[in-house]
Amino acid sequence: MYKTEVYLGDSREILKKYPDGYFNLIMTSPPYADARKNHYDSISTANYPEFFLSFHEEFWRVLAEDGSFVLNIKDKVVDGVRDRYVWKTVMALAEKGWRCVDDYAWVKPNAMPGYWVNRGSAMSGNIAFT
Ligand SMILES: C[S@@+](CC[C@H](N)C(=O)[O-])C[C@H]1O[C@@H](n2cnc3c(N)ncnc32)[C@H](O)[C@@H]1O
Repeated sequence: MYKTEVYLGDSREILKKYPDGYFNLIMTSPPYADARKNHYDSISTANYPEFFLSFHEEFWRVLAEDGSFVLNIKDKVVDGVRDRYVWKTVMALAEKGWRCVDDYAWVKPNAMPGYWVNRGSAMSGNIAFT
């Protein structure tokens, strides 16, 4: 039997109450760059690596030595060119010591209908760390 607890708040603050190495897995789908301005602070692609590094310290501390960190994120196309802010974020994390093991892809054929018409069968680029 698993116990599930859900907290609403800033993960950088909430994680502070957990001891070192407490978690085996961190999986996050962080805010999209330059998006959802009415829902949360929009982060530009240029500032994204710096923004994401603000999670590094607590993630690194609470993750067990043999734990994994999965970052569900995909870069975007701007004026017909792919903006590589995800690559830059991954490189910034690698410089902090994260070992990026691979990208992964997932298929979501049963997405709820809505404005995002291209999501139904989209495969997304994602990153896994250990
Ligand atoms: C791209 S959405 C992820 C959506 C989620 N995967 C889902 O399927 O509903 C990003 C989410 O991160 C949340 N968020 C933004 N900054 C956060 C922070 N510092 N700590 C925790 N959550 C945060 C936002 O409120 C938003 O719900």
